[in-house]
Amino acid sequence: MHNRQLRLQSRPKGLIAPDDLQLVQTPLHELKDGQALARVKYLSIDPTMRVWMAGDSYLPAVSIGEVMRAFGFAEIVESRRSDYKKGDRVTGFTGLQDYVVLDASANQPFQKVPKIPFVSDTVFLGLLGINGLTAFFGMEVAQPKKGETLVVSAAAGATGSIVGQIARIRGCRVVGIAGTDDKCAWVTKDLGFDAAINYKHPDWKAKLAAAVPNGIDIDFENVGGDIMNTVFGLMNLHGRVVVCGFISGYTKEDPNMVSLGTVIVKRLRIQGFLILDYASRFMEAATQLGQWKMLGKIKDRETIVESLEKAPEAINMLFTGGNTGKLIVKV
Ligand SMILES: NC(=O)c1ccc[n+]([C@@H]2O[C@H](COP(=O)([O-])OP(=O)(O)OC[C@H]3O[C@@H](n4cnc5c(N)ncnc54)[C@H](OP(=O)(O)O)[C@@H]3O)[C@@H](O)[C@H]2O)c1
Repeated sequence: MHNRQLRLQSRPKGLIAPDDLQLVQTPLHELKDGQALARVKYLSIDPTMRVWMAGDSYLPAVSIGEVMRAFGFAEIVESRRSDYKKGDRVTGFTGLQDYVVLDASANQPFQKVPKIPFVSDTVFLGLLGINGLTAFFGMEVAQPKKGETLVVSAAAGATGSIVGQIARIRGCRVVGIAGTDDKCAWVTKDLGFDAAINYKHPDWKAKLAAAVPNGIDIDFENVGGDIMNTVFGLMNLHGRVVVCGFISGYTKEDPNMVSLGTVIVKRLRIQGFLILDYASRFMEAATQLGQWKMLGKIKDRETIVESLEKAPEAINMLFTGGNTGKLIVKV
């Protein structure tokens, strides 16, 4: 048996170029005691992968020659571990590859996930995975109050689409910012956002101002740069900014994400957060998100790209707006 892997060959400049990730085929060795072999079925495609390719940040950079780090969903196909049996399903850092070895002696934070009737496996990467959890805990940081106005950027993406729906559940007026009219129509018509602005329209700044007649109390920031600075200009005094991500800067050498002058004038409170810090509470959040989904209060959507070889192109789609909802590679 062979394992196809995408290994980091060079650190990208801008979008990922065809040679930055190299597809290699390696033999799969017989398992030793204390090991289990899992077949990777789905890969979560996340903007932070581009950050891991660039250099050290909140996690060490992926080394040149190393299998590209990625979160994924896998199924155990063979086991010489007492805690895993064939057919068990797990999520964790599988990497961009066909198979991953779960070694009892390595510190690999894999989590078993249940088989739930009528629920797709991919939900454990999106709504009940990184993005739903990020939206849930990010909204805890935001501390929304009924009647407040929240603006979320990358609103039709995996995280932003859930953020807006949680904010609606909490009684906020919700305005999304997204890059196509179709995405704006999805978040308003299907997800219940009060308004959505296409930031690629020439007059989007005036439209955003008109959509927030009472100003903005909470900025849930996924993008940074011009979008963030425009939102800052419309914020109310003592507004709160939840910094989830700065995707507009991940492919740039000099991101220059924010001008801080407005922060003083508007007395803004800015707080960043990282989903990794909330690991002990994932089950609590997933239970709530699952309930909201069953009650029809939260809807999710996925963009699926077929085959491991397409993973580099899929990562680039995040930076060109090619996805709506959660972006997943089916291996
Ligand atoms: N803090 C944490 O723990 C944590 C965890 C997960 C994710 N995040 C962050 O959350 C944000 C969203 O991540 P996601 O996984 O949910 O991805 P996503 O929103 O599903 O996909 C990214 C979207 O961002 C938009 N975008 C890309 N470049 C842009 C630009 N230059 N200007 C404006 N919009 C741009 C694109 O949509 P358009 O068509 O609208 O442009 C794209 O579809 C990212 O910043 C990510 O790093 C943070």
